Amino acid sequence: MAIAILVGRNEVEQQTYNWFTQGWKRALLSFNPDLDVRTWPNLGNYADIDYVLVWNHPLGILKKFTQAKAIASLAAGVDHLLVDPDIDHHVPIVRIMDPFMATDIVQYVTAYVLQYVKLVSHWALKQQQKMWFKQPPFTLSNKIIGIMGLGHLGGKAAHVLHQLGLKLVGWSHSPKTITGMTHYAGKAQLHEFLAQANVLICMLPLTKETKNILNRQTFAQLPKASYLINVGRGEHLVEDDLLDALASGQLSGACLDVFRHEPLPFDHPFWSHPHIIVTPHIASVTNPETAAPQVMENYRRLLAGEELLHRVNLRKGY
Ligand SMILES: NC(=O)c1ccc[n+]([C@@H]2O[C@H](COP(=O)([O-])OP(=O)(O)OC[C@H]3O[C@@H](n4cnc5c(N)ncnc54)[C@H](OP(=O)(O)O)[C@@H]3O)[C@@H](O)[C@H]2O)c1
Repeated sequence: MAIAILVGRNEVEQQTYNWFTQGWKRALLSFNPDLDVRTWPNLGNYADIDYVLVWNHPLGILKKFTQAKAIASLAAGVDHLLVDPDIDHHVPIVRIMDPFMATDIVQYVTAYVLQYVKLVSHWALKQQQKMWFKQPPFTLSNKIIGIMGLGHLGGKAAHVLHQLGLKLVGWSHSPKTITGMTHYAGKAQLHEFLAQANVLICMLPLTKETKNILNRQTFAQLPKASYLINVGRGEHLVEDDLLDALASGQLSGACLDVFRHEPLPFDHPFWSHPHIIVTPHIASVTNPETAAPQVMENYRRLLAGEELLHRVNLRKGY
């Protein structure tokens, strides 16, 4: 019986994220110092390993864990895991659903919604110009905030933004009732949702259906000069379509935490675009200390033959 931790697709990523691997190892051993926790590439005999913990693991390796009884994503998303063609669909996959992570991403989203709504960069510019520019609009808090994806994270963001007095619309796969929000579901209601969203926040998982969803057609359905916040995944966004929408004024700005290529290449136009805010995928980073209890609870359940927590629906892809 042993647990394997695999973080990073290649050697560079493995070194870059060694702090994450070691953080997980420490957190698991603090539960039980007798656990056999192995980290890539020092895995010993693969047949010993019954629980595989991954974040952007080396592709093609999963088929070697012939005795694995479960695979756990060390993050909320599982797109990094489901791209592996070698996944044995009989082995359950679980993911992290950590309230601390949810708080983190909600704080991020709230911060960037408020910087837009409260015109933070506008007032900063007026200060630079030494201008006492007391003219409306003083706030854009009458604008409508649209959240795509109302699961563990998007649902919490909706709750907090509603508490702040903002008007909300939401969109997800299945119908829901959420306090303070007009809700739309499925492709048939996407247009109605988009047509109202002055701020569009993407909190979707990356699946076949949601890949490239932030595209030219989507932007064209938003009210003129809307603002985009993407904390989902980089592959939700068609990057050239964003640049075109900003150039035409269809979008007034964007705050992006996730990118098609991470790290964002040095010469990428997003870095220096005057209307794009770039952050390095930090909206919510899994904290091994807060997330380890659920990973260990699943290991206990695994060994006891009990139902696992936070199972991923492989058919839906999230
Ligand atoms: N930037 C960061 O640091 C960071 C950190 C953590 C997570 N994330 C991203 O956030 C994503 C969401 O996490 P979560 O824990 O909230 O996921 P979740 O609980 O699985 O919720 C996903 C939501 O998306 C909706 N959805 C999925 N496919 C859809 C489709 N085709 N059309 C419409 N709605 C769809 C689901 O609808 P139903 O409710 O109807 O099923 C659900 O409301 C993760 O997958 C990850 O990519 C980013």
